[in-house]
Amino acid sequence: MKTIIERIDPNNINTEIISRAGEIIKNGGLVAFPTETVYGLGGDALKAESSEKIYAAKGRPSDNPLIVHISDMADLGPIVSEIPEDALKLADAFWPGPLTVIMNKSKLVPYKTTGGLDTVAVRFPSDPVARAFIKESGGYIAAPSANISGRPSPTSGKHVVEDMDGRIDMILYGDDSLIGLESTIVDLTGDKPMILRPGFVTADMVRKILPDIIFDPALTSVSKDAHPKAPGMKYRHYAPKGSLVIVEGEPKAVVSYINNRLNEDKAKGKRTGVIVSSATAGSYLADRVYTTGDAGDEQAVAHNLFGILRQADDDEIDSIYSESFEDDGIGTAIMNRLLKAAGHNIVHI
Ligand code: TXA
Ligand code: MG
Repeated sequence: MKTIIERIDPNNINTEIISRAGEIIKNGGLVAFPTETVYGLGGDALKAESSEKIYAAKGRPSDNPLIVHISDMADLGPIVSEIPEDALKLADAFWPGPLTVIMNKSKLVPYKTTGGLDTVAVRFPSDPVARAFIKESGGYIAAPSANISGRPSPTSGKHVVEDMDGRIDMILYGDDSLIGLESTIVDLTGDKPMILRPGFVTADMVRKILPDIIFDPALTSVSKDAHPKAPGMKYRHYAPKGSLVIVEGEPKAVVSYINNRLNEDKAKGKRTGVIVSSATAGSYLADRVYTTGDAGDEQAVAHNLFGILRQADDDEIDSIYSESFEDDGIGTAIMNRLLKAAGHNIVHI
């Protein structure tokens, strides 16, 4: 398939391009588009065939449900059986923005879109290109992250081209994603509101609106048998081609531990890399030093992380070590993604 790639400027949106993208969706095709979290791979959420195409393009198991993106609060009612009071509160606080809310679905949403579930995940993104595109497409865009299943989510147009060129009809190639991590997911269909995936909207921020909020216990469980409520959280994700080990401990000890391991790896002829904050970047002996920004600057780390994991693959790194990040605030989301990428391979020293 020939993929049309269109550059799009969020500050001066070319309506002719958006209108063509909308036509593609209405005709059952697929268009990748920027959002403030990561790029999405969009199809008509109300057409079962479009969702099937999304699964095929991503190489994703079809029991893993898609998020339905809207661009207007008025479009929420028709796709849910009822709008919970808590959803209105969350929407007031965080929409448009990087939050996904799970509610009971209406008949309008096909089971192909929800992976067979009676619930639907809904997000109202803030990105202006995303909003214009969703509106022009009829209001309901099913979109997972626009990566091949298992790879890090794309945070730039370049990443999307790498994974999706030749597989979909069009790529809206905009700016790099502002946030760089996927949305926080809150499930409102259980006894208590529950965070199924940590993100930029932190647990503390949600707790101010819904004091009862809890984390899905499977998120923090060390057991490999834990069953996360978001089906997608059970899959191995983001893993670079090389091995990735996270090292946690006092900064000086971390540097010397990693340098020892780097020396061993180099002696075996491996290409090595480290993922570290700017404070210690100069201390490592790796072939490639990937800097996340200041360790304290969680937003910078979030913004850079997926791009770094992809870059390590481009650089053909065999063995990667990463410093650990504070498991608090946005750091909870960063560590969640990093641990998945490392297959939970973490050394405490
Ligand atoms: O930031 C984001 O959320 C991005 C952008 C494109 O909006 N999208 C995204 O989609 O990350 P995806 O498909 O890569 O991740 C969606 C996650 C998966 O873990 C999936 O299992 C979960 O949401 N999910 C979707 N619908 C669900 C439902 N009804 N119940 C439980 N989990 C659900
Ligand atoms: Mg994804």
